[in-house]
Amino acid sequence: MNTIDNILKRRSIRHYKSEQIPADTLKEIINCGINAPSALNMQPWQIRVIRSQDMLQRLNGSFVDWARGKSLSGSASRAGEEGFSVFHNAPTLLIVAVDTSNHYAEGDCGMFTQNILLAANSLGVGTCVIGSMAASINESPAIRRDMLHLTDKYKVLFGIAMGYADEYPDAKQRDNSKVEWI
Ligand SMILES: Cc1cc2nc3c(=O)[nH]c(=O)nc-3n(C[C@H](O)[C@H](O)[C@H](O)COP(=O)(O)O)c2cc1C
Repeated sequence: MNTIDNILKRRSIRHYKSEQIPADTLKEIINCGINAPSALNMQPWQIRVIRSQDMLQRLNGSFVDWARGKSLSGSASRAGEEGFSVFHNAPTLLIVAVDTSNHYAEGDCGMFTQNILLAANSLGVGTCVIGSMAASINESPAIRRDMLHLTDKYKVLFGIAMGYADEYPDAKQRDNSKVEWI
């Protein structure tokens, strides 16, 4: 797949097959992530790779508890429904945490993430960035510190759901008027 096709054909995937991504494929994708540019090559991220069903269930359960009584948007608004999964039942989840002391870090983490999304897409692996789970993790020391081993300097920006797609959604509309040629 050439780069332009890869960018234009990537979609956020919200239905996954249960089949796990082979570890070698995942390692190749993560290697593309960490080869993203970052200001002063500080690589101001901490990445956690979660594939254990127990941990995935614990993270989802913690999100569902956190979401109770809150008015959330997007798919997170269905958190009270039976069988809900904030990361769409993907078999692999990356957690992207950012160094809060670094002014450029959120942009750098965005570049890391886009590399992951595109490398995955080129290898036939579907992805979806999951911003909605960040607050529930950041507010839970048991998850943030004890499960994910994140020090106070790092806060979770988002998760990245990963797995083989069980859907191929249409492209979402893009707004060309946000681009002005001056
Ligand atoms: C920072 C960020 C947070 C997002 N959070 C969620 C989320 O919590 N749940 C979800 O299903 N999709 C989430 N998405 C995916 C967006 O909804 C999706 O990228 C957008 O609708 C465009 O669709 P596309 O990725 O298929 O082009 C997120 C995307 C980004 C970049």
